[in-house]
Amino acid sequence: MKRIPPPGTAFADLLTQRLSRRRFLEAGAALTPFALGGGALLQSGDVRADGSSALTFKPIAASNADQILLPPGYTYDVVAKWGDSMFSKVPDLDANRLASGALFEPNAATLQRSWFGQNCDAIHFFPLDARGDRGILCVNNEYTDEALMYPGHPGFSGAVRGEGRAYVRKHPETVNVSIAATGVTVVEIARERGRWKMVKDSRFNRRITADTPMDIQGPARGAALMRTHADADGKLALGTFGNCAGGETPWGTYLTAEENIQDYFGNFDDLRARRDVDAYIIDSHRYWRMWKAHSLYGWENVHERFDLAQEPNEAFRFGWIVEIDPRDPARRPIKRTALGRFAHEGASPVVAPDGRIAVYMGDDDKFEYVYKFISTGRFDPKKPQANRDLLDAGVLHVARFDASGRGQWLPLVYDAKGPLNAAAGFRSQADVLIKARAAAHALGATPMDRPEDIEANPTTGRVYVACTRNDSRTGESSRREYSGRDIDLGPNAANPRGHNDFGHIIEIHEDNDDHTSKEFAWEVFILAGDPKKGRLLTSLEELQPGKLASTDTYFAGYAKAADLSALGSPDNLGFDRAGNLWIVTDGTQPQEMNDGCWACPTAGPDRGKLQQFMSGPIGAEVCGVQFTPDNETLFFSIQHPGENGSVESPKSHWPGGGSSQPRASVIAVRRDGGGRVGG
Ligand code: FEO
Ligand code: CA
Ligand code: CA
Repeated sequence: MKRIPPPGTAFADLLTQRLSRRRFLEAGAALTPFALGGGALLQSGDVRADGSSALTFKPIAASNADQILLPPGYTYDVVAKWGDSMFSKVPDLDANRLASGALFEPNAATLQRSWFGQNCDAIHFFPLDARGDRGILCVNNEYTDEALMYPGHPGFSGAVRGEGRAYVRKHPETVNVSIAATGVTVVEIARERGRWKMVKDSRFNRRITADTPMDIQGPARGAALMRTHADADGKLALGTFGNCAGGETPWGTYLTAEENIQDYFGNFDDLRARRDVDAYIIDSHRYWRMWKAHSLYGWENVHERFDLAQEPNEAFRFGWIVEIDPRDPARRPIKRTALGRFAHEGASPVVAPDGRIAVYMGDDDKFEYVYKFISTGRFDPKKPQANRDLLDAGVLHVARFDASGRGQWLPLVYDAKGPLNAAAGFRSQADVLIKARAAAHALGATPMDRPEDIEANPTTGRVYVACTRNDSRTGESSRREYSGRDIDLGPNAANPRGHNDFGHIIEIHEDNDDHTSKEFAWEVFILAGDPKKGRLLTSLEELQPGKLASTDTYFAGYAKAADLSALGSPDNLGFDRAGNLWIVTDGTQPQEMNDGCWACPTAGPDRGKLQQFMSGPIGAEVCGVQFTPDNETLFFSIQHPGENGSVESPKSHWPGGGSSQPRASVIAVRRDGGGRVGG
């Protein structure tokens, strides 16, 4: 669950919320949420024990300005930019010198290890005091945008054409700078008169990079596919990258999700040509679309481990959920292999009624799946040490969404009697987890429209799945091979729109309100787009697969188009204490405007009344959407402002303005004069 404060802070408050909800259910209110209508208002009101009101901000209009726009009465501070030093003895990056090659200098990688990383994504806040005026931010630095770092770089389109390889060979030192700029930044921040600032020299400050040692734990630890020349035991990986969204555990640790790891490995064709490599190893890469020759980032030109032909197994050591203890800088990060290997968007843990932990996870690629891990052990808030390794034992499940509105969680368990056995291509439970995509496909999971963040509403327990979009979804049933699998690319009940340009959000209601349930009910919550342009649908019966235009929209049945803001490409999700859903976006917008943040109630008469709260600068996606426990601050990551520009020709000048270079940054949004963000 996104907003579980760690033990010793507001955890008791959360338990109170959960208990009050259960009491309400037991009181005979006969809540059957999907047939409820006005009852949902009661449900929501019941859990608003803290007296919060509905959303009250005045929505903003979509924008393509190169600035952060917020409703009247709101302001923001930049908390940390790429290149800000976390230590007083280390100078900040001088971004004015990027175009003349500041990062070609011999000490650049060393400096970057003390600087805030590039392209921030997930943010989680770990309070250090009761008031929440001090805390640790864990922030993902998903990837590096080389054209915004080094002069003359051909950019991503050039890298795709193979020009990135020539660039890296000419400037090999840039690879180590990029390695140091990727991963996770852990940094203390403090609030003074409402404003958050980095605390330099805090003992918690550290960079976790693409070569930081980390333990491999869980069923795949030591497995044959995890062994490499440098790590013959398969127990110690170097680094994390592609860190997209994340999560936080009830025991106060951070989870970072390794997403697009395939872009760091090159020369798959050379590996395929090797006769001395077990065909099983080569086949085990099948569902990842590894780069045939040069990779997107070109790291294989400098470090052999990223060259698949030289180190066929290194890529199996990435694509995991990594657990980091923000309060213990000496503790190594741990790759938790029980949670499976795929393009992890995020990981959202929830405590079930019996104390077991459910972790919801999406695999952000076209036609990939929605997962849930259920721990074997139980969370005990009184014994923090006993919770440390809860994510090492349990069962990973994958979702099948049925047309009836019901769904099943299917277990990914190796079984000699099938279906996940040797005949199906799996040699062990470790291999089922390493090849989770293949296992999920074999079980008949539902291929989704890029499932991104999945979050549980802290007031109702319902689970929301953001599906960004999928322009490869066909309008009619069309069975063919996609990414190594034979699947139906056509619409299904949970992904009802062909050529899904703007994405959608699904709401899951676990049976018995128990996150360990094996079955659930589900419905589409939002079908994104511009409600003022196409048909605004108001009943679920209208969401018929294959019968929807790309301009059709649905906002949980909300019928007044004039009240609604257009939305596209929902990516990360968050909740405030009142259970309102907050959405940030990455990519195609129906009005071709900038990415931003939107919010809506999930219950009551305004359920689905979606309004735009924030607009980001040019070229940026907006990530993070993380509240402080008092809800008086809302953190965002502004990732890749000025994307597709270069240090010579910037396309954005945010946040510095003037002629400055764009800098990916974490911002803190607050109300003028204080108070809860949103209402
Ligand atoms: Fe890194 Fe799925 O966005
Ligand atoms: Ca994301
Ligand atoms: Ca994204």
